[in-house]
Amino acid sequence: MSYKIPLFQLNFGEEEIQAVTETIRSKWISIGPKCEELEHLFEEMFHVNYAVSVSNCTDALHLACLLCEIGVGDEVICPSLTFAASVNCIRYVGATPVFCDIIGSEHLNLDPEDIERKITSKTKAIIVVHMAGFPAKMDEIMSIAKKYELKVIEDSCHGPLSEYKGKKLGTIGDVGCFSFFSNKNISTGEGGMLITNNEEMANRAKLLRSHGMTTMSYQRAKGHATSYDIENLGYNFRMDDIRASIAIEQLKKLQVDLDKRVAVRKRYIEKLQQIKNLVVPHADNQEFVSNYIMPIVLENCTSDYRDEVRAKLHEAGIQTSMHYPAIHRFSIYKEHNVSLPQTEYVTGHEITLPMYAALTNEDIDFIAETLNKILNG
Ligand SMILES: Cc1ncc(COP(=O)(O)O)c(C=O)c1O
Repeated sequence: MSYKIPLFQLNFGEEEIQAVTETIRSKWISIGPKCEELEHLFEEMFHVNYAVSVSNCTDALHLACLLCEIGVGDEVICPSLTFAASVNCIRYVGATPVFCDIIGSEHLNLDPEDIERKITSKTKAIIVVHMAGFPAKMDEIMSIAKKYELKVIEDSCHGPLSEYKGKKLGTIGDVGCFSFFSNKNISTGEGGMLITNNEEMANRAKLLRSHGMTTMSYQRAKGHATSYDIENLGYNFRMDDIRASIAIEQLKKLQVDLDKRVAVRKRYIEKLQQIKNLVVPHADNQEFVSNYIMPIVLENCTSDYRDEVRAKLHEAGIQTSMHYPAIHRFSIYKEHNVSLPQTEYVTGHEITLPMYAALTNEDIDFIAETLNKILNG
């Protein structure tokens, strides 16, 4: 079925096609000058010292855990209301995830008070996810991290160019991680970026993303090196120049795309705030944000009713999603047996409405009217 209003629309044009064609014609398609250009552009736009391109955000998070020297026996505090990658990365390095609750329907990010309750002598780091692109309570989180000497990894997949008190998300903790998956604000199909202000971490990230090799094939092809050593056990987490050339075009359009999303959200809020029995999370946010997705949370109903509402929106030609099925309820994490009341409420009552720059006022009004009819008759 094709939806009258899809959840997301790819912001691709001739520029991306042209960029890929040029890269293919250059005859260098793996990691090389386009990845480097993308990294420099990212450093400039995100006001950060180092950007390291990687194959996806899952690998960026895995690398971030290695850079923060997280390992067997360590505990890492993380949300459950997130995508699996934000938690799986903790398991990749042999450490234990410790699930922490969110503040609630109005603020979908980690609750600093619950973070502090969950700290033990084994806690090594906190993984923060900025849900939908809205900043977590970073002042409180950074001061907890300082007090207990913890590292902070920002999973900023949802928030490219989102700000917290004038700082870009991903630049506040020790390491920031971004995804270029198709439905993200910057799309390349698959792809990602790790950012940091720490030179040692950046150098180590560059080594580990390519098998720990001390030189890259592009340097050897250009005659700048003839061999290499392997100093560390690394991985193949490299991006390639084809996708980097798409990402460069996407970055050029990013600010304009995000400005349009701000207007889309404003219209949504005007319409949705008139509807009873729903909450618009982060409605009081005054910061510039990416508006990666448009979550709402239903009130005074059951989870089954939320599913019925989604089914009716589907019948009306409106695609929706849910962010997220809580991680601590998945089979592989069930043994954690933790109670997270706010997360559990949101996971059962959230609906993600369509969000993209090209969404028109008529589309938004239709979505809001349909929702109001379903919820309030
Ligand atoms: C919050 C969050 N973290 C991590 C990821 C993983 O990103 P990738 O698909 O690039 O590995 C995603 C992607 O959906 C995400 O939404």
